[in-house]
Amino acid sequence: MSRNGNDQMPAYSEAVKSGLYEKHSGLVGKYDNVRRLWEDEISRHFLRPHLQKLIDRCRQSLRRVRILDLGCGSGDGYELLTGIRDRDADLEQVEVDLLSPDVLGQYKGVDLNEDLLRQAAEAHGHRSKLAFEQASFTEGLPLAPDEPPYDLYFTSFGTCSHHNEDETMIRLLVDIARRTEDYCLINCDWLGRYSYEWQNLWTHEHAENRNMDYVVSYIYEKEEREARRDELQHLTLRLMSRSEADAIIAEASRQSGVEIRPLCFYDRSVFTGRHIDTGEYNPGAQPIRNAVNSLHEVNRRTDLQELLFDYVPKPGFEFLNRYYEHLQGCWNYLVHHVITLLKLYDEESRAFSGPIPEPPAACPAPLQRMRERMERVVEGTGWYGMGLPRENIIEPQLGYALRDVITKQQQGQGCGHGLVGVLEIDKT
Ligand SMILES: C[S@@+](CC[C@H](N)C(=O)[O-])C[C@H]1O[C@@H](n2cnc3c(N)ncnc32)[C@H](O)[C@@H]1O
Repeated sequence: MSRNGNDQMPAYSEAVKSGLYEKHSGLVGKYDNVRRLWEDEISRHFLRPHLQKLIDRCRQSLRRVRILDLGCGSGDGYELLTGIRDRDADLEQVEVDLLSPDVLGQYKGVDLNEDLLRQAAEAHGHRSKLAFEQASFTEGLPLAPDEPPYDLYFTSFGTCSHHNEDETMIRLLVDIARRTEDYCLINCDWLGRYSYEWQNLWTHEHAENRNMDYVVSYIYEKEEREARRDELQHLTLRLMSRSEADAIIAEASRQSGVEIRPLCFYDRSVFTGRHIDTGEYNPGAQPIRNAVNSLHEVNRRTDLQELLFDYVPKPGFEFLNRYYEHLQGCWNYLVHHVITLLKLYDEESRAFSGPIPEPPAACPAPLQRMRERMERVVEGTGWYGMGLPRENIIEPQLGYALRDVITKQQQGQGCGHGLVGVLEIDKT
């Protein structure tokens, strides 16, 4: 039994050293709330039905799924993929992972960067079905002649934009097509050419502006960013539109003599990419990601006015101006609607104190659904006095509702931070 308490202190010191006592903020950093709750989840949402089919095919062949993560970094792709849920699971079910251990045969990650590979090995080295290797994906498919082909070739978070020349991307796809025996999926993840974050770089002549000088400035807050301007890292990254991606895929199909078929394209982070907060490539950009991060932060009250978007049109790009104008209209309408609901709500009577304004005539169905959902959320939880219902229930729900509206309205044309294509090769 301890007498003076000092002999108990090493236990606390150990806990501090382990890092587990640190307060994690979702407001900043690589794994901020938008990354975990929007970007990861949107990626999972679009890949899920195709992965489900792939799993079913593998089951039919009495095999498990083999995954090659190209540009795996520290192995985040493994977490992203194993976090995909089986949406058909009942609400009371506990085991809901799609890629459960009996389904996953192997996950191999390749990357050029030794430091990231070391981090990957540290984080995942204990998992025997995972392997990490140093290799380049711009010199063809890094697959040994005697290595069996993979079922899913996966890339994430703009990795395909490291193919600065289309020839290397085409070669990679051709190699995959040639090595495929029956069937495979390919998840291609580029930077979107027409993201509002870099409106200054929009061009009609794609050949003029193929690659952007991508400055990794967003990891710092504003003052530190400016103080460290000279030491910031720069990457050369390919900007991709849907028509350019289609041309690359068609050329790879032609060269390999194998059909590579797009299953879906989607824009990820349409208003919430990392550079929307820095304004690095668009002086009209606003810190919307910061405001969305705040919506999802526990115990934090967000000034909802900061979520209101003021899109500045670019002359000569009417097809984009029209699209963004409409999206901004939907986004701002939902934010204004929730501001109105919060004003109207009366905690005493647990009801709205006046009539809720009618929706606009042009209200699209997804916005209509989210508008109604927010009414139910505010009415159903606004009275709940303990645990900050606005901060911890209503605001995160507004975040999910905005995510839903933007995800349903995106068109997969390169208008988000990420343009992602899920492709299939079926030789059966
Ligand atoms: C945007 S990061 C994505 C990392 C990781 N997939 C993730 O989701 O966090 C791109 C990754 O591609 C790697 N990379 C860039 N060029 C490469 C190449 N030619 N061959 C292999 N990896 C490369 C980088 O080292 C980096 O880890």
